[in-house]
Amino acid sequence: MIQLIDVNKTFLNSPVPAVRGVSMEVKDGEICAMVGPSGCGKTTILRMINRLEEPSSGTIMVGGRDIQQEDPDRLRRGIGYVIQQIGLLPHRTIGENVSLVPRLLRWSEQKIKSRVINLLEMVGLDPGQVYEKFPHQLSGGQMQRVGVARALAADPPILLMDEPFGAVDPIVRNRLQEEFLNLQQQVKKTVCFVTHDINEAIKMGDRIAVLNEGRLVQYNSPLEVLSHPVNDFVVNILGEDRGVKLLNLTRAEALMSEAVLLQESQMDRAVQVLQESGKTVGFIKPNGNESIKYFTLENIKKGMPVKEILEKGTCFIDGFQPVKTALETMMKRNSDVVGILKEDRFVGIITWQDIKKHISTIREHENEC
Ligand SMILES: Nc1ncnc2c1ncn2[C@@H]1O[C@H](COP(=O)(O)OP(=O)(O)O)[C@@H](O)[C@H]1O
Ligand SMILES: [Mg+2]
Repeated sequence: MIQLIDVNKTFLNSPVPAVRGVSMEVKDGEICAMVGPSGCGKTTILRMINRLEEPSSGTIMVGGRDIQQEDPDRLRRGIGYVIQQIGLLPHRTIGENVSLVPRLLRWSEQKIKSRVINLLEMVGLDPGQVYEKFPHQLSGGQMQRVGVARALAADPPILLMDEPFGAVDPIVRNRLQEEFLNLQQQVKKTVCFVTHDINEAIKMGDRIAVLNEGRLVQYNSPLEVLSHPVNDFVVNILGEDRGVKLLNLTRAEALMSEAVLLQESQMDRAVQVLQESGKTVGFIKPNGNESIKYFTLENIKKGMPVKEILEKGTCFIDGFQPVKTALETMMKRNSDVVGILKEDRFVGIITWQDIKKHISTIREHENEC
């Protein structure tokens, strides 16, 4: 856990405080997305957490210990740091760049090598391709991945990320964001993620910290910030399409009806199998390249035998994608259902009705304001 308690920072050569009375905590395993206009103090807060800057007053605790009492080098080894400029050493190979901290920690050569290979794979790079290359031989997106791998090298519990994907084009940025979220599911780091892009904050943050002129204006879940912004500053940062952003916020899998796999031999008692499993959708294993066939309890209740109502799931999205993508897919394919995949396996469906229900809930939420 990271705790900031009434932290202030005024730089010696500046009359205006950069950070003013910020108190907040980032829970273990959560991503805190810090967002706000340029100059609002985001970078300064990150740099105080790994003691590249010292607060003028206030206390910062990491893992329950006041960092002022810690040796800065030791502290930093427990904190991965990813910055937009990446900061790879240009004359060292990717392998050497990623292994910097493990080397400092005097791990054995064998352990270092297997860790680096494992890390490169984790961030979506082919170790055979990039291990011996130099930074300038990589694309911007690949370099950012190396930056993340390096920060994770010694498996620190904490990651500080300062606009880590800011320098790449929107398509690559999207991919990096999704890859990082996937990775976070496995590594469950405590992350401070700085961005000036509200969409990125909404996508990445378990909680969002909105900052303005060094002050913490609001610190809540994305849903709470979007549905109950505390003042006009937050409303402005969110922009006009708050409703659409909310659709962007919920992952498709949250609205999904989970499906249960049926063997051919179970078809005659499909209803019973569904009810026993507590699911409302059943599917059978496709032959070869056939698309997945499924049926819903609702359809069976209309009186048709299972064999006749087997519908083909024509389009699929990953459950990690936002509900907005499910909606777009339905519109594009002129279908009122999409299949949901998890790790490339069919796990359920989401229907137009599910999305409609979700939109009504959002409306109710907004009307409460
Ligand atoms: N080393 C420094 N010396 C003086 N002023 C600084 C220094 N670093 C940052 N500042 C000032 O502190 C404020 C916050 O900066 P920063 O934390 O970099 O903002 P952000 O990352 O949100 O863009 C700005 O007004 C900036 O000019
Ligand atoms: Mg900054």
